[in-house]
Amino acid sequence: MSDIKINDLSFSYPGSDKLILKEINIEVNAGEFVCILGQSGCGKSTLLRLLAGLETPTAGSLFIEGEQITGASLKRGVVFQDYGLFPWMTAGENIMLALKQCFPKKDKKELKKIALDMLKEVGLEKAVYKKLPKELSGGMKQRCAIAQAFSTNPPILLMDEPFGALDAVTRARLQDLVLKLWSQDKQKKTVFFVTHDVDEALLLANRIIVLGQSPSHVIYECVIPEDQRPTREKQFEDIEILKLRNTLIAQINKDVAIHIS
Ligand SMILES: Nc1ncnc2c1ncn2[C@@H]1O[C@H](COP(=O)(O)OP(=O)(O)OP(=O)(O)O)[C@@H](O)[C@H]1O
Ligand SMILES: [Mg+2]
Repeated sequence: MSDIKINDLSFSYPGSDKLILKEINIEVNAGEFVCILGQSGCGKSTLLRLLAGLETPTAGSLFIEGEQITGASLKRGVVFQDYGLFPWMTAGENIMLALKQCFPKKDKKELKKIALDMLKEVGLEKAVYKKLPKELSGGMKQRCAIAQAFSTNPPILLMDEPFGALDAVTRARLQDLVLKLWSQDKQKKTVFFVTHDVDEALLLANRIIVLGQSPSHVIYECVIPEDQRPTREKQFEDIEILKLRNTLIAQINKDVAIHIS
């Protein structure tokens, strides 16, 4: 059974007659790392918000593990484009909030240990637990958001351009971190990762889906078999990956050209 099923999905924001998403059909299998590529404003975050259960489809339906999405669920960890941390809570309290909701029967000490272990796992010092988001750098906030999403060990992760605002080195470190966290479990998580960066998608994904714009619809899709996954070092040397890179860029440019002319 597919983990995520998007069935003839169309969407307009309430009170608006502008169609944002049009007849989108996507199926994601358990353990897949799917990257959604598309130009700014094409509707990637909107699609992710629908999968998170924060918006309701105008037409069509969305299923997670065979069940129709009717609202937010602890089965889905979400990392938002703007980190999604509550500014009035410390980094630790933000992570604890998710943990308490997910494991209401566990005692606080046990949950705090999970939170601290997770901060360590994402490369943050223990002291970060007591810091407010405004006291952290962008990269640190993003690590906290990743720690929060992974701390509850959800089978499905929805990530919305999580590294968009970071410098190249921090971005590379966090991409490696997410790949490590995704691949280390025997039962891999299913990841639905939104980005507008073709190279990021090529490095992370098993499958890349390109969305066109106005309204958003699937214009291209390709699979990258696990044994052909490029390494960061060889990413720009591998002929097949370079060909795929050119194809992806051409698809996006073609869509942009249609909407400019
Ligand atoms: N709350 C909202 N109400 C009405 N329209 C919205 C709302 N949020 C987004 N939109 C519109 O929906 C369209 C898609 O926006 P969305 O944020 O999904 O794009 P995106 O692909 O994530 O862009 P980016 O790459 O810049 O993050 C845009 O035209 C935007 O103006
Ligand atoms: Mg967005």
